[in-house]
Amino acid sequence: MRTSIISAAAATAVAFAGLGSAADLAAWKSRSIYQVMVDRFARTDGSTDAACDDLSLFCGGTWKGLTNNLDYIQDMGFTAVQISPIVKNLEEHTAVGDAYHGYWSVDNYALNDRFGTEQEFKDLVAAMHKRDMLLMVDVVVNNMVQAFDNVVPPKVDYSKFNPFNDEKYFHPYCNVTKWENATDYQNCWLYPYGVALADLATDTKPVADELGNWVKGLVANYSIDGLRIDAAKHVNDGFLPGFVESSGVFAFGEVLTGEPEDMCRYQTKGLLPGMPNYLEYYPLNDAFNGGSLIDVAEMRNKAASSCNDTTALGSFLENHDMPRFANRNQDMALAKNAMTYILLNDGIPTVYQGQEQHFNGSLTPSNRETVWSSKYNKEAPLYVLTSALNKVRNNAIKLSDDYISTPSETLWADVNHLCLKKGPYGSQIVFCINNKSSKGDSYQVSVGGFQANDKVVEVLRCKVSTADVSGNVTVYMGKGEPKVYVPQSALKDTGLCTTTEEDAPVADNGASALGLTGSMLLAAVFGWAAVLLA
Ligand SMILES: *[C@@H]1O[C@H](CO)[C@@H](O)[C@H](O)[C@H]1NC(C)=O
Ligand SMILES: *[C@@H]1O[C@H](CO)[C@@H](O)[C@H](O)[C@H]1NC(C)=O
Ligand SMILES: *[C@@H]1O[C@H](CO)[C@@H](O)[C@H](O)[C@H]1NC(C)=O
Ligand SMILES: *[C@@H]1O[C@H](CO)[C@@H](O)[C@H](O)[C@H]1NC(C)=O
Ligand SMILES: *[C@@H]1O[C@H](CO)[C@@H](O)[C@H](O)[C@H]1NC(C)=O
Ligand SMILES: *[C@@H]1O[C@H](CO)[C@@H](O)[C@H](O)[C@H]1NC(C)=O
Ligand SMILES: *[C@@H]1O[C@H](CO)[C@@H](O)[C@H](O)[C@H]1NC(C)=O
Repeated sequence: MRTSIISAAAATAVAFAGLGSAADLAAWKSRSIYQVMVDRFARTDGSTDAACDDLSLFCGGTWKGLTNNLDYIQDMGFTAVQISPIVKNLEEHTAVGDAYHGYWSVDNYALNDRFGTEQEFKDLVAAMHKRDMLLMVDVVVNNMVQAFDNVVPPKVDYSKFNPFNDEKYFHPYCNVTKWENATDYQNCWLYPYGVALADLATDTKPVADELGNWVKGLVANYSIDGLRIDAAKHVNDGFLPGFVESSGVFAFGEVLTGEPEDMCRYQTKGLLPGMPNYLEYYPLNDAFNGGSLIDVAEMRNKAASSCNDTTALGSFLENHDMPRFANRNQDMALAKNAMTYILLNDGIPTVYQGQEQHFNGSLTPSNRETVWSSKYNKEAPLYVLTSALNKVRNNAIKLSDDYISTPSETLWADVNHLCLKKGPYGSQIVFCINNKSSKGDSYQVSVGGFQANDKVVEVLRCKVSTADVSGNVTVYMGKGEPKVYVPQSALKDTGLCTTTEEDAPVADNGASALGLTGSMLLAAVFGWAAVLLA
């Protein structure tokens, strides 16, 4: 049976690469995703003062709470929402907490009533679609879950699972220990502590067929637009293309690896249409924590040559599994640069709830803070930034059909800076991030991406300037802030930067209001392009 399903899956892989969800992939590429963990986003009664003292237990967020707070997400410019799993989970308190996150499935055919009724879920989907927002649902295919007492091998009562109510649908128990050995991390059971993650035999036909039928029904019954496949790396490769094909929609598969060879083969072999971009995740985080932006530039090149299509990867900085960015470094300017990168990078921006509020939780579950504790503050600096950048990106997509498919061009990369240009002339976005932090000095650099005498706007401060004869603009760096330029003509009728003023040097940290240092003045006079060292 194992041999036959592998060859069937190989045949599906070819079909998938040929046609499959091409249209859905295109639709998702132009979206920007806000990732919601339902239990932690909003309560039905809208209350914001109730604290959740133990983040390993239920905090009370619901689908209705989310429906009522879609404005908060849409006003930030997001055009899609990814939500945590929706099916029924185990009810017990376990040594590792409650199933508030939704990853502990026991019944694939019942919705999780901790998050609301079926009608409330359908109302959520309808409300999103009315706003032209797409819904991505997280699904678990690697395992079904039961509480266990930490005595191995786990004594699992398989009859409690629906539909996989027999031991024959599962791999025999073994603990994943060899993280470099695919047979081991795909067929053994993950993290046996407090809960047993009974590993589904997705490499057998009955299990693969059932999961395919299930997901087809799930997508159809609830009008789901896309999937995130949890732990995709931990199911056998051959299962994935058939599963995605059955769903009929786009899917991100979670493949946790920073190695291009490990990740990109999922794309080049047609196993998955997209994956969260863990390749850039590590160097990007490191670049703001003692590392270098050159490493980000190098990983971009590696990913571009190993993967078929980096525009199908999910560009992210935080998720529910990793410590928050601000847990390593509280500096707001660094957080702004990192946010700017993921929103304007090639690929589908994916922002994890609370990132816009500069939450700083560390490992699970402290990285799953309740969003209501922020009172949904729309004045928070990263909320304001995200809103501006999503709007700029959405506008570029509207202006040009080629915006998304045009890969970014690196204009300049050094240890402290990365400047990229994305999109064809007329709808291009030129942006520079840096890792100088809010203590960063004032200086100016010259960056290309335009044509001679183009009027351009730096959209984060609404400053106008004119490109020089070589099509370069002068970037006035200061306080470590990121910079984002678009042609002034592209902003017509967008409501962005309706009033502007001439760009000028940024006041130096601790310097006079005018902030012109002697060398900067010289640079202004002579139009020097070089980076001026303070
Ligand atoms: C499972 O393996 C991990 C190492 O991958 C180890 O830390 C853990 O103690 C093992 N658990 C059991 C129940 O054997
Ligand atoms: C990989 O893991 C499997 C299952 O645990 C084991 O049977 C096999 O010997 C391992 N292979 C290597 C090369 O270690
Ligand atoms: C979808 O709806 C059909 C018809 O009511 C039902 O038989 C099927 O079990 C549902 N599937 C899921 C995954 O809920
Ligand atoms: C990805 O690129 C490789 C190498 O060019 C090619 O063989 C493969 O068919 C492509 N796969 C997809 C899914 O486009
Ligand atoms: C920025 O990059 C430089 C050069 O690699 C590094 O020394 C510095 O620590 C980085 N800054 C931060 C805030 O990590
Ligand atoms: C995390 O944020 C909270 C609330 O803003 C703050 O009180 C706390 O000091 C921060 N923790 C760390 C480790 O910076
Ligand atoms: C224009 O900007 C590029 C970086 O994009 C830089 O390498 C070049 O030196 C600049 N040219 C001038 C004339 O300043």
